[in-house]
Amino acid sequence: MLEVRNLDAFYGAAQALWDVTLDVGAGETVSLIGPNGAGKSTLVMSVGGVHSSVRGRITVGGAEVVGLPAHRVCDHGVAIVPEGRRVFGHMSVHDNLCLGAYRRAARARYRATLDEVFGLFPRLAARSAQLAGSLSGGEQQMLAIGRALMAAPRLLLLDEPSLGLAPVVTDEVFEAIATINQAGVSVLLVEQDIDRALDISSRAYLLAEGRVIAGGPPETLRDNEDVRRDVLGI
Ligand SMILES: Nc1ncnc2c1ncn2[C@@H]1O[C@H](COP(=O)(O)OP(=O)(O)OP(=O)(O)O)[C@@H](O)[C@H]1O
Ligand SMILES: [Mg+2]
Repeated sequence: MLEVRNLDAFYGAAQALWDVTLDVGAGETVSLIGPNGAGKSTLVMSVGGVHSSVRGRITVGGAEVVGLPAHRVCDHGVAIVPEGRRVFGHMSVHDNLCLGAYRRAARARYRATLDEVFGLFPRLAARSAQLAGSLSGGEQQMLAIGRALMAAPRLLLLDEPSLGLAPVVTDEVFEAIATINQAGVSVLLVEQDIDRALDISSRAYLLAEGRVIAGGPPETLRDNEDVRRDVLGI
């Protein structure tokens, strides 16, 4: 579904990603873990076409997307839930969700997708008319995920969805991610909560200082010295 090949990314003269190669297979959930500043968000933004100062190859479903603006990458079925959620606080829950469905294919099934999102997050259904800015942190994260789903993506990129959430709300969010994946959406998940992330992933990559330094099934990463030292601090 997603193939990233030899990707370099830059902020001006500074390089943030070095020769990154990774895959997310169709129907897979893959985690991207690594310490602060490793380049995880840069990778997500590069795949989504939000960060464009890159060199290398990124294909989605076989189509080259490097150099495309974010809305064109979205047309290839990619949706992002950015770090820090970023819902539109002065708009209602319902209107935030509508915004997610702007691409033509998504607009056609808007009603059905909205029902799915409300099924996944009943709390949003109950607060459909409420201003997004008045939702709790967890509800805002659900809304950010719901808005991404409204685009009817094939590939969902999630950047630290559990950041700042209480454990019980984090559980709900992770259950929702697993359900989304079971419905056939491929997921690339950036997470600090490594145990929870590995639990729902078939594979994971460890990024450090802009480079992929390990990758494989969850067990191998749990046992990996670099993961234990750099990420878990053990
Ligand atoms: N807008 C920017 N301008 C310049 N440098 C940036 C910018 N955004 C990120 N960087 C740098 O790029 C590197 C990777 O940052 P990035 O945000 O991708 O890391 P991250 O793995 O997502 O970290 P975190 O876990 O803290 O979210 C860091 O060294 C960071 O300082
Ligand atoms: Mg980040």
